[in-house]
Amino acid sequence: MEKVGIGVVGLRFGRVIVKSLLESEAARFFDVKFICDLDRNLAEQVSRSYGNLPVARDLDTALSDPSVGAVALMTPPAGRAALIRKIVASDRHVMTTKPFERSADEAERALEEARTRGVAVHLNSPSIRSTPHERQIREWADQYDLGRVIGCRADLWAYKPHPADGSWYDDRDACPVAPVYRIGIYLLNEMIDLLGEPESVTVLHSRILTGRPTPDNGQVGVRFANGALGNVFASFCVADGQDHRHAMTLNFERGTVYANVAAADTPDPEAVTDLRLFRDSSRRWRPETLRILTPSRDSYDWEAFYNAVHGSDIADDGYRNRILSGIRVVEAMARAEKSGCVEKVR
Ligand SMILES: NC(=O)c1ccc[n+]([C@@H]2O[C@H](COP(=O)([O-])OP(=O)(O)OC[C@H]3O[C@@H](n4cnc5c(N)ncnc54)[C@H](O)[C@@H]3O)[C@@H](O)[C@H]2O)c1
Repeated sequence: MEKVGIGVVGLRFGRVIVKSLLESEAARFFDVKFICDLDRNLAEQVSRSYGNLPVARDLDTALSDPSVGAVALMTPPAGRAALIRKIVASDRHVMTTKPFERSADEAERALEEARTRGVAVHLNSPSIRSTPHERQIREWADQYDLGRVIGCRADLWAYKPHPADGSWYDDRDACPVAPVYRIGIYLLNEMIDLLGEPESVTVLHSRILTGRPTPDNGQVGVRFANGALGNVFASFCVADGQDHRHAMTLNFERGTVYANVAAADTPDPEAVTDLRLFRDSSRRWRPETLRILTPSRDSYDWEAFYNAVHGSDIADDGYRNRILSGIRVVEAMARAEKSGCVEKVR
């Protein structure tokens, strides 16, 4: 298998991606050709940690190397579309990270340019392929004729009592309803995939224990065009040993699916999503129940990205629309954070 030469740009979180590209399954597909960060000291430090990886002075220099076929772009979301457009204009493929970009218009432009040039732009959330647990939920809905989706409550928390540091995490415009934007975004994107076209958004938030000026506790409510109601709660204030566990309750007309609801009782909770389906058995308080553990996978789908680089399944309009739909909800969420009102998704 011919590996694709890849560079990693943005090395704070990006150093995790460097490690993954060198040491995980992804190493079968990619060969790290350079790393790059505006902070030269950070780049040198990451380089030394991994056997003196080549450090590129900047993105332009890196893109002049013909052995580079793709870029893993791990810079902050605001302004990321402009960098994507630069990479796409050099006919390189892009893997990036959540949240895709703060501005839906900028994101749309970048995705349109990628489509025109036949270049792949993928990210981890929404990922190009739905997760095994999402596929299982859809299978149950068909198999048991669960009917229309009615509502969804999703939550996710971590303990991050960090002080302010002047980064984008402290900026309300760059990081609206911070816990939802930073970690709840996975569940928000998944909820949009499962519930359909988002229509309007409300927000509640507070700041309980972190030193940052942005909220550390937040929830966003979404009304969907089909009448379904969704809610995502995310917090940086809970230290219970379950950081980043994605939990979701999903009601259909004739059944309810619980994903990771209640404390984990499996030996390796990070490796699986614990799905339970409850549906009517015609006996009061005795629903039929089914339980399946679906495998969790790295949210960066390196294999699908590799295939896209080789020309198959670059990304259809459906994927682009899923990405844009999530950003439009975030834009409405940012307006609702400021106005305190219900805001339409534009
Ligand atoms: N599990 C995950 O997938 C995961 C985890 C954490 C963060 N993230 C995401 O990763 C992204 C970055 O987060 P972060 O916490 O590292 O942000 P950060 O602001 O702490 O760091 C960004 C880094 O990118 C560098 N940078 C910015 N613009 C650049 C440019 N034009 N060229 C080269 N380097 C540039 C900065 O110097 C900085 O070192 C965010 O979108 C975040 O949500 C994903």
